[in-house]
Amino acid sequence: MIETLTIKKSLTSNSRLSELEMDGIKFGSYYSDHMFVADYRNGAWGECRIVPFESFKMSPAMSVLHYGQSIFEGLKAYSGGNGKVLVFRPIDNFLRMNESAARMCMPDIPEEIFMGGLKELLDLDRSWVPTDEGTSLYIRPFMFATDEFIGVRPSLTYRFIIFTSPAGTYYSEPVKVKVEKYFSRAFPGGTGAAKAAGNYAASLYPAKLAQQEGYHQLIWTDGLTHKYIEEAGTMNIMFLIGNRLITSKGGETVLDGITRKSVLQLASEWGYKVEERSVSVSEIIDAVEKGTLKEAFGTGTAATIAQIAIINNDGQDYQLPPLDEGAFSNRVLKELTDIKTGKIEDRHNWNVSI
Ligand code: COI
Repeated sequence: MIETLTIKKSLTSNSRLSELEMDGIKFGSYYSDHMFVADYRNGAWGECRIVPFESFKMSPAMSVLHYGQSIFEGLKAYSGGNGKVLVFRPIDNFLRMNESAARMCMPDIPEEIFMGGLKELLDLDRSWVPTDEGTSLYIRPFMFATDEFIGVRPSLTYRFIIFTSPAGTYYSEPVKVKVEKYFSRAFPGGTGAAKAAGNYAASLYPAKLAQQEGYHQLIWTDGLTHKYIEEAGTMNIMFLIGNRLITSKGGETVLDGITRKSVLQLASEWGYKVEERSVSVSEIIDAVEKGTLKEAFGTGTAATIAQIAIINNDGQDYQLPPLDEGAFSNRVLKELTDIKTGKIEDRHNWNVSI
């Protein structure tokens, strides 16, 4: 493993693995035996340790609880057969986490702590990586401010944790989404490109309103005009029109999704024309009406690909065409799953093997 990184280990004497019931497991509801923890104080990261997954004490004055300096990542590990654990594109998560940290005025995590902690944790809890089809081990690295101080300023101390959670499929059916024209997820100068906890907090109320109307999630539009599509729920969003795979361009209002860039890369290798650009709501509704929109789907770590069945715009439901086995979204999901589980060659070197 990493020579310069010292990780103190205190292991559980009471593994919960035998209680794990993968059948119908709810995403994010069950946690593996251990977690990796590091603390930042006096301008440096240290005290790296692996401990049992357990609660810890917090001061009521802990800065994250008041001003929300908190960022996270999500990535997945898969069983590659013969006890091998394959982690999908962890370096991309590491890099994105540090971009989020910069935006939220938090310290960089050194690569050896992020990657070294991740590898040691997965090595130790490798039996928690589920093997059934469609399952994976969801990995949640996150960092939060720990100063016991309620003055408003960047915290001087932080904690970084990685824990893992066995996961099945995220959405069990194609989703119904509603175009949001009032609330905003992101706006120029905001924090939309960061994986900041506050972005998710702010999305809950508009999403709840849409759910009360029978939709799974919202399609977020730009914060200035609400004419251009940016994301869907907690995912990036893509549209297939003819041979063109269209998605909103990255930047400060759209999260730089790792599944997003993997799908775009595969699509362009398969001969699709990939267009990363402004996508107006009217262009998409027009394409649905003319019958040229073949597919719409969300991409994200948790769901991988979430096909969209219905888009609601200005009170009207638009039904998308049914998808067969050969649909692009089915093909790309299969290809990604096969790469992630080592069934086919990982020709982009996306996997890190543990
Ligand atoms: C993802 O799928 O990438 C997410 O961020 C979803 C997570 C918030 C559960």
